[in-house]
Amino acid sequence: MQVDLRILRYDPERDTKPHEERYTVEAGPMDRVLDLLHKVKYEQDGTLTFRRSCAHGVCGSDAMLINGRNRLACKIRVDQLGRKITVAPLPGLPLIKDLVVDMEAFFAKFRSVQPYLQAADMPPMRERRQSAEDRAKFDDTTKCILCAACTSSCPSFWAQPSYVGPAAIVNAHRFIFDSRDDAEEERLEILADKDGVWRCRTIFNCTDACPRGIHITQAILEVSSKIVEHRA
Ligand code: SF4
Ligand code: F3S
Ligand code: FES
Repeated sequence: MQVDLRILRYDPERDTKPHEERYTVEAGPMDRVLDLLHKVKYEQDGTLTFRRSCAHGVCGSDAMLINGRNRLACKIRVDQLGRKITVAPLPGLPLIKDLVVDMEAFFAKFRSVQPYLQAADMPPMRERRQSAEDRAKFDDTTKCILCAACTSSCPSFWAQPSYVGPAAIVNAHRFIFDSRDDAEEERLEILADKDGVWRCRTIFNCTDACPRGIHITQAILEVSSKIVEHRA
């Protein structure tokens, strides 16, 4: 079938603002949007610029706005979208070129929540043991691939870009609820800040956008409850 693919293009050396360009691409129902982008790049316009690496939903580098929703180009297929497909860069992040946005501020927020295990005691001779029940408390939030689909779909983030955003909170949750970690207080302090969890208005766009199916809004509410519990 022929797909009518419309891509928002922007070349900082030539354009004053982004504009739409149309391509007709021959595709099968099981082709993914990433396959269509490759066809355009290799067969029609080699200047088309986008990020991708694994092509299998693991690296998180090809999140973009596809038919109005943030998704991974390598996971969404033509049969799920129809013959008319629009593709644009992730909203709310500074545009660099075509479908490539600047992720630096996004990763800085991720780093701000100290997303690594901090244990006060010396490492044991063997692994740090944890019960299956304790492991289950943060299983969901271990699945994040840092694609930014959540944060860039959040109206609270669009309104206030200093908001730490759902992705950083998900990654803080992963360690706050880990029984082997001892930096819970510090992370809760960071997230109780004016740009922390209280900026969330439970809009759920983040949860809808997450390609890993993480229950993001629930994780944010669990972190907020923990902050309240610690202050009581
Ligand atoms: Fe992407 Fe989901 Fe992680 Fe957000 S929580 S960065 S949407 S994988
Ligand atoms: Fe934004 Fe998600 Fe909260 S969309 S407002 S972080 S529930
Ligand atoms: Fe790696 Fe899509 S290219 S997640």
